[in-house]
Order: sequence, then structure tokens, then C-alpha cells
Amino acid sequence: MNGIYPPKEFARQANIRDPTIYSRAHENWVEFWEEFAGELEWFEPWEKFFDDSKAPFFRFFVGGKLNASYNCVDRHAGKKNKIAIIWEGENREKRTYTYYQLFREVNTLANGLKSIGVGKGSRVAIYMPNIPEGIISMLACARIGATHIYIFEGFSAKSAGFRIKDSRAEFLITADGYYRRGNLIDLKEKADRAVEQAGTIKKVVVVKRAGNDVEFDENRDIWYHEILRKGHCEAEILDSNHPLFIMYTSGSTAEPKGVVHSTGGYLVHVYATSKTVLDLREDDIIWTTASLGWITGHSYAVYGPLSIGSTVLIYEGAPDYPDKCRTFDIIEEYGVTVFYTVPTLVRMIQTCDPSEYDISTVRLMGTVGEPIEPETWIWLYREVGRERVPIVNTWWQTETGGHVISQIPSLTPMKPASVGKPLPGFEIAILDDGGKPVKPFEIGNLAIMRPFPGIMLELNGDTRSYVRFYWSRYGKRIYYTGDYAYADEDGHIWIVGRADDVLNISGHRISLTEIEQIAMEIPEIREVSAIGLPDRVKGNVIGIFAVAENPGKETGEKIVKKVENDIGKIARPGLIAFVSELPKTSGKIAKRAIYDAIVGKKRSSYVVNPETLEPLMKLKPSERGIVVL
Ligand code: PRX
Repeated sequence: MNGIYPPKEFARQANIRDPTIYSRAHENWVEFWEEFAGELEWFEPWEKFFDDSKAPFFRFFVGGKLNASYNCVDRHAGKKNKIAIIWEGENREKRTYTYYQLFREVNTLANGLKSIGVGKGSRVAIYMPNIPEGIISMLACARIGATHIYIFEGFSAKSAGFRIKDSRAEFLITADGYYRRGNLIDLKEKADRAVEQAGTIKKVVVVKRAGNDVEFDENRDIWYHEILRKGHCEAEILDSNHPLFIMYTSGSTAEPKGVVHSTGGYLVHVYATSKTVLDLREDDIIWTTASLGWITGHSYAVYGPLSIGSTVLIYEGAPDYPDKCRTFDIIEEYGVTVFYTVPTLVRMIQTCDPSEYDISTVRLMGTVGEPIEPETWIWLYREVGRERVPIVNTWWQTETGGHVISQIPSLTPMKPASVGKPLPGFEIAILDDGGKPVKPFEIGNLAIMRPFPGIMLELNGDTRSYVRFYWSRYGKRIYYTGDYAYADEDGHIWIVGRADDVLNISGHRISLTEIEQIAMEIPEIREVSAIGLPDRVKGNVIGIFAVAENPGKETGEKIVKKVENDIGKIARPGLIAFVSELPKTSGKIAKRAIYDAIVGKKRSSYVVNPETLEPLMKLKPSERGIVVL
């Protein structure tokens, strides 16, 4: 088999050393998953591993009772000197929590939340930066059986408002402010607008993080430190399929979808993959660079590593502020052992010289969220890992809860940019539109042929979309991922990109339909098309092509402002180009033709108004800003 074999030194000490793990899982998937489940603590054992009687609503560990907070905290609290969380603020403030301290904090917050009316079945939105209170809030909710909805702090008030309303959250935990690139961001003000828009929130709990002046509604708002109540809070005995959290993600429609995850299946999935893929042990310090508000933050900065008993590092600020190489500073300072990040960040730090730092503690690296190109992978392997640190390129989605395809770092040869093989316990196929497997090297639809413990329970309040998006194309039992991929001669998988109208920017999913609808709300815009343009650092940027009544800087800035206001800075367009007419096929805007003209310098033959391609042909693929063609 081709590829770079895992360094022997690493393989010798890894959690997984027996290559028969693949065949064992294949022969008996129930036993495979149950073995991992058995390493967690259950209040009552499950009666049935898998129930597919109501497909495509699959349930795992049916009848089992457990608590995620108990598994992540109480189990390790006995080791009183063991650190659970290391936090670094953007201003270089530092805080650590031992597992025992975390246990106490989670209990006191859980008591406090109960005192304001949060209980089993409540829905609690968390709109918070990367601070320890974010993790404590998640675990306190989990402890009392409240479902949390974490909203990435960079989302605009409008985006947050939509998520709060759609999830019908009655409580919000937020902070006064936080620091980003040296600026104090007034989060409470954004939260107030979101709460007003949603109209569902009864109480707002506010963490004093930055000390900025905030408006306080005495009837509704309460300081976090004022609700804390000392003493033990018994962990609720929860059904395995009790909803642990909802995470919103973009699909091909304009509105984000609320992906609902279970307690038992989800926890088993992230625990098992933290052990096999991230090779985590208690003495590891893992730095997952994603914000807590994304699925990667949930699964591999909180629930996975803490269920193992490792130390997690979280950082509040921008990874390139105030110094573009701060990432290496942090790894060096704390002796990070497992570094899990996105290709965008790797591209950003490629201008740094890793040899200036002592980063020899790193023993495993991982990437997620977007394709990594071979050159970037090789730089990471050679310059950062010094050819002694394996890299796992993990493929998964918000909907899958945890890793699905990846190398097992001690066993699988690495091929730069490939995501490796389906993990043990998963059945993957690449299918043509008719549902037949394609041959090696042929591109097809990536599909998961059998449900697995971390698969979402449903989409919040939207059964029809749940069935239609994921379980219609190939029937009720085969999960359609929405990604194109191919397999090579060794069965290693290579991700090509999304099949739907979703763009991946710095590892975040943005719906192009949503962007187009936002732009269309500006009165001057007559027609618009949003596409992804390749970008050296971010992977992709949004390109907006519009026909407008008064094309120019002013209208362009209106679009930028509206997108930032309605979604957040992450969706800021890289290029806005005004044209007199958009290329069309029969009545429909030909997105592919726009892309081909700019990036491939090709004139698509199926366009009915070919003259529209000429201005686009002259545009440089690297052009950014607002232009009139
Ligand atoms: O297109 C795939 C891409 O990210 C999508 C999932 O996005 P999201 O739900 O936001 O979750 C991101 C973190 C898990 C997938 O459909 N993707 C994810 N991992 C990879 C990837 N593309 C290429 N390589 C990966 N390793």
C-alpha cells in the first residue's frame, strides 16, 4: 500500500495497536460499539443496542440511562490534582480548573440554573466566547437534563435570534463582552437584540468577562456569579436518547437547520473516536482550535476529551493576534500534545518558522472541516511534526456528531490530503446517482450505508427536511452526506467537495442560497448569484455577482453590511462584482459558467447569452473587493 507509514515510536505507545480492529468491527459491529459504551458509566444498562423500527429515526442504546456531565466530570473528580481545563485569554490572562474544581463549578451553576427555573427538558441557549464558563454551562445543562444550544459568538444578533427562536430556548447564558484582535466586543448588546427578536427568552444569565458597561433588564437579566449555589447537584438519570444539544448548521436552503444530538449514542461515538483517532489518554493536553460554538468544539474540546479524562486547552482570541505565530507560542507554553485544527489555520501559520519554538511535546496532529491540499499537509508534516508526528485528516459533519472517516494514527498509512479509510464501525460507499457503487477513482456521492451511534436524532421541528435531505436519495437506511468523493486503489477516500449549494469557508458551512436571499433584500439589487472562489488561506471566499440599479461601491457596501448583520463576519464576501447581465442557461443563472470563466478561463458552451462571459473572463481569480465590470 502507498503512503507514509505511521512513525514506529508513535505506534508503539498508541491506544490502538491491533490492526484486526477493522475486521472485528466489520464482523460484529454491535460488540464493537458495546465495548466502548461499556467503558462509560451507565446508571442503567441499555436493553437494545440499535432500534431501526422507525427508520430513518434511529435509536441507539435503547433503554440505557446515563448522564454526559457525570461521565465527563464526576468520574474524574477523584483525581484532585488533575487539570481538566487550561484557558488562555487573548490578553494573555490564564486560568486552570482541576477536575475537582470543574466538578464544583458545574454543580454550583447547575444549582443556580435550577433556582431560576431551568429543569429537565428546558432549552438553554449559550451565546459565549471561548471561556471556561462556556464549557461549565454546557456541562451544567447536561447535568440537569436541559438541552443546550450553543451559538458561536461571532454570529450576528439576527443569526443568534433565529437560532434562539427556532429552538424555542427559554433561557440564555451569555457574557458582557470578550476580546477579539484587541477589540472589546460588546456581546451583551448583541444578545439583547437577539433576545428581543426571538421573543422566547425568560431569563438571561450574564458572565462578567470583560467588565464593560452593559444594560441590565432587572426583571430578565441576572449575573452568572450571583446565581451560583454551593453544594451538590445530583446528576439527572437521563434516557440514552434524551437530547443533549442542538447545533445549527447551514444546508442548501436559506435557513440553518437545528441538528439534534442524543446523550448516549453521541457520547459513545465521541468517546470512542477520541480514543482511536485522537489517541487521547489522561496525560494528554489537547488543543482543538475550533470555537466551542461549533460541532468540533462540542465533540473534541468538551465531550470527547473530558469523557476520557484528558486536559483540554481553550483559547479565547484570534490565533494570529497580536503575533501571527501565537499558535506556536501557545503550543510551546503549555506543552500541547495533541493539536487538532483546520487547514485554514495551517495555511495562516505557514509563514512562521516552527523551528523557533520548542513544540516537541506535540505527538499527534489532526485537521478537519475542509480539504487540505498536499503542499499544506506536507509542510505540517515536515516543518511542524518533523516527520515524527502522525497527522489524521478527519472527515465528519455536524450531523454525524463525530469522526466517520480518518486514519487511525498508529495503523493507517497517510496519504497527503486523503481522509484515509472508513473508521471501524462504519460502512461507507461512493455511489452514483442511481445508487450503484462507482469504481475506484470515479467521483460519486459519499454515503454512509448503516446508521451509527453519533448520528443525529432529527432536525429540530422539521421532520420533512430531515427525511428529504438525508434519507431520501438512497432510501431510509442509507445516509446521504452531500459530499462528492472518490476512493483510490487502496480504498482510501479523497473528498472532492460539496454537491449542494453549501460553501466551506475556513471549515465553516455557509449556505449560498442564504447569502443570495440576503442580498436580494436590498432594493437596488435585481438579480444575484453567490459562488465560491478559491482562496489561498481560507480555502474559499464568497463571490457575489449582481445586477443592480446603481452598481458601485455604495451598493456593494450595502451588501457587505447586510451579510455581516444577518449572518456575521464569517460570511463576509471576498468579491462583489456588478455585471449588466448574468450568464444563464434556460432562465437559470449558470453558476458553473461564472466559476469556469473566472477561475478556469473557459467559456462554457451551454450559456444562452455568451457575451455575459467576456467581462468575467477578464477578472483575475484573486481579485477582491467591490468591482463594476
Ligand atoms: O464537506 C465536508 C467538509 O465539511 C462538511 C461538514 O461541515 P460541518 O458540519 O460544518 O462540520 C465541520 C466539522 C466536522 C462536510 O460535509 N469536511 C469535513 N471534514 C473534512 C471536510 N472536507 C474535506 N476534508 C475533511 N477532513
